[in-house]
Amino acid sequence: MNAEELRALYIEFFTSHGHAQIEGKSLIPENDPTVLFTTAGMHPLVPYLLGEEHPAGKRLVDYQKCIRTGDIDSVGDPSHLTFFEMLGNWSLGDYFKDGAIEMSFEFLTSPRWLGIPVEKIGVTVFEGEEGIPRDEEAAAAWRRMGIPEDRIRYLGRDDNWWGPAGTTGPCGPDSEMFIDMGKEPCGPGCGPGCPCGKWLEVWNDVFMQYNKNAQGEYIPLERTCVDTGMGIERTVTILNGKKSVYDTEIFTPIIAAVEKASEYVYGTDGEKDRSVRIICDHVRSAVFILGDPKAVSPSNVGAGYVLRRLIRRAVRHSRKLGMEGPLSPVARAVVEKFTGPYPELAENAAFIMEELDREGEKFLETLQKGEHEFQKLLPSLRKDPRGIMSGRLAFKLYDTYGFPIELTEELAFEQGLKVNREEFEEAFKKHQELSRAGSSQLFKGGLGDQGEMAVKYHTATHLLHKALKMVLGDHVAQRGSNITAERMRFDFSHGEPMSGEELRRVEALVNEQIRRDLPVTVEVMSLDAAKGSGAVALFGEKYESQVKVYTMGDFSREVCGGPHVEHTGVLGTFKIQKEQSSSAGIRRIRAVLT
Ligand code: SER
Repeated sequence: MNAEELRALYIEFFTSHGHAQIEGKSLIPENDPTVLFTTAGMHPLVPYLLGEEHPAGKRLVDYQKCIRTGDIDSVGDPSHLTFFEMLGNWSLGDYFKDGAIEMSFEFLTSPRWLGIPVEKIGVTVFEGEEGIPRDEEAAAAWRRMGIPEDRIRYLGRDDNWWGPAGTTGPCGPDSEMFIDMGKEPCGPGCGPGCPCGKWLEVWNDVFMQYNKNAQGEYIPLERTCVDTGMGIERTVTILNGKKSVYDTEIFTPIIAAVEKASEYVYGTDGEKDRSVRIICDHVRSAVFILGDPKAVSPSNVGAGYVLRRLIRRAVRHSRKLGMEGPLSPVARAVVEKFTGPYPELAENAAFIMEELDREGEKFLETLQKGEHEFQKLLPSLRKDPRGIMSGRLAFKLYDTYGFPIELTEELAFEQGLKVNREEFEEAFKKHQELSRAGSSQLFKGGLGDQGEMAVKYHTATHLLHKALKMVLGDHVAQRGSNITAERMRFDFSHGEPMSGEELRRVEALVNEQIRRDLPVTVEVMSLDAAKGSGAVALFGEKYESQVKVYTMGDFSREVCGGPHVEHTGVLGTFKIQKEQSSSAGIRRIRAVLT
């Protein structure tokens, strides 16, 4: 079973069970200040899980590209990935635990679908904790499916609770499905959920019952939902009995491209194999970020910084393999492999290759500069009688030139020197704490915290979008937005800085619409009808065939998932604080409502 077949079967199964297939969304979340990337299949669906109507209906299925970089330092081992694809099906107030479990069971075991023998399947359900009861309903459903008691395991919050994805948002108990790999149990307590390697997880059914609010309270949802997630890479690995995701067809052509570019043969040297895996994973993630309709470029902040780290780490490991040339041949293999389900990759291939190789070259210069600085330091370093290079000095190379500690160590080693790693780590930690304090601002509010202010700001983005088009011209198109409870940021295409006069006119237009207290209304219609009715659709966004259109009086009409305020009058006063460049051809406005 390869990834393509699994993806197709999953979609076919759920569409044949009344689910509408919806498009996966961008990797860069819209209107979500709490995360840099889309981290789970449910992520773009948060507003719907919290009660918004979805134009495609109450039963949905899709595949979604995701990035999680929390474990970036573990990438290189056989299982960790920074990019993955997630299959998911959703019930928005339709079926709940029984329906979700029945369908999961049928898809896993029926010979028409995955055909996994029932004896190989084990599950875990929520054991109950902190006033939330044991999930007897889910356990009973599994029993009805024929899963015996010893393969239903009750686990606590750490294992069987999902969400919220940020600090706030929808969450609830979940039930995970595992495949028995046939190994001996590791001990008497071994069972589904045991990390010994006997039981591997393939699927997660989350029963969204609560919304965790900013005060940390769990408020029961009026309309319960189901969110399920099946990681494609993981599942393909398990179904094919492979030990590592890198041994599946998903990575075969990418590894081949690295082999070709480096003349190293995968599987012949443990340390180098690790480098091959790092290059494959990081280049794959970088290609998807750069190939996204809302692509960011490498930079020193936010998603751009993650991208920069991915590319730099890949370059460093390519040098370990003796790869002299650029990363683009590897990136081309990624584009070719994944452009079927993700046509944006081929469409943006030129941009991907250009950005990737430009950043790679820049980093090589950094490396050379760092090496040069190191040479300059050498005479004084040699004076240390114990042959130790100070960690503070190594940190300075890292901080000033972006010179990685591993390289400093390597160069020091060649000169018979040793870096004081402890001292380096200390300096590094201090630095991290500082930058963490800086970015914690970003995590205020929370995913799905459709707080009153966030909703107001969301409505203000529509007014601003229209006002910009009126003042600057129809070429203006929204290229991104980011909202917290304190401010909004709005990116749009426009070639030059705005004049003071233009800014004043835009601000005045928005405030005029607030004063007019326009009614905000919503309708569901086909995408064609929406466009025909003059509704603005976002550049590069993929839409379902049925969409929601928000209308603000006679002023603005946009395709949008919501939510919005009911009357513009509640927005207060709109004030632009800053207008600046965001990237080539894109301007950014920061504004507040007071
Ligand atoms: N949100 C859950 C997960 O990511 C199920 O989709 O595992």
